[in-house]
Amino acid sequence: MQEYTGYFIALEGIDGCGKSTLAKLLAKELKDKGFDVLLTRQPGGSEKLGPHIRSFLQEQPEALCPEAEYLLFAADRAQHMRTIILPALQNGSIVITDRCADSSLAYQGYGLGIDKSMIRSVNTWAMNGIDPDLVFYLDLDLETAQARIARERAKLTVFEQRGKEFWERVMHGYEEIFASREEVCTLDGGDSINGVFAQAKQCFKKVLAQQSGCAAHDICKQLSEKL
Ligand code: ADP
Ligand code: TYD
Repeated sequence: MQEYTGYFIALEGIDGCGKSTLAKLLAKELKDKGFDVLLTRQPGGSEKLGPHIRSFLQEQPEALCPEAEYLLFAADRAQHMRTIILPALQNGSIVITDRCADSSLAYQGYGLGIDKSMIRSVNTWAMNGIDPDLVFYLDLDLETAQARIARERAKLTVFEQRGKEFWERVMHGYEEIFASREEVCTLDGGDSINGVFAQAKQCFKKVLAQQSGCAAHDICKQLSEKL
């Protein structure tokens, strides 16, 4: 039994794969169709703590050991879940978050080599035991993703400057994490912006049709009818 009446969507993938672009398009589409939508992100989505953690992580990651880095993401996640995501879900909103718990598994677990079972446990705890109802994973090669970021701004963040081996581990991590999860839509991030959006809508409908218990859940019925 879900403890909320809303619907919870997360977007995942490497930096520059197109998550924010797709998140905005989805949010607009759903708002235009009359849904109450909250667009948010991790890290940084929680009101007071989030921006501090986000800027500290981005400015001084070298000051942190991998475990501390992970725990800062987890602290932001716990605060974000309890103060932003859960109240909105309980209020019947569709919550779209640009990154969520799987980012830590891919980046800190696979990328930095922290104990994955520990990350899974702490993530579950930080997320109040709630998983997204739907995850969009934008699959894109590193070269294209970094070229897109370079077109957008002159400087990569300290995170984005991590070496090729790090990114290969992160991408392999995402593939393993999402290999057998039914609520995950893997999208070809190399498609055009409109193409990715069309893929996302098509897969969204498929997941809704397959999701157990969805027919009894009012928001799923509305989404299936209106999408
Ligand atoms: P992310 O949130 O995953 O880091 P963004 O959505 O910010 O990625 O996209 C990174 C850059 O690539 C932006 O300049 C954006 O306009 C561009 N972009 C996003 N999606 C596509 C796409 N499908 N094709 C080409 N460029 C894209
Ligand atoms: P973000 O600004 O969302 O990156 P982008 O929009 O470029 O994809 O996230 C900031 C960075 O933090 C990004 O490099 C991914 C990283 N990150 C982690 O390493 N672990 C996490 O748990 C999260 C949520 C993000």
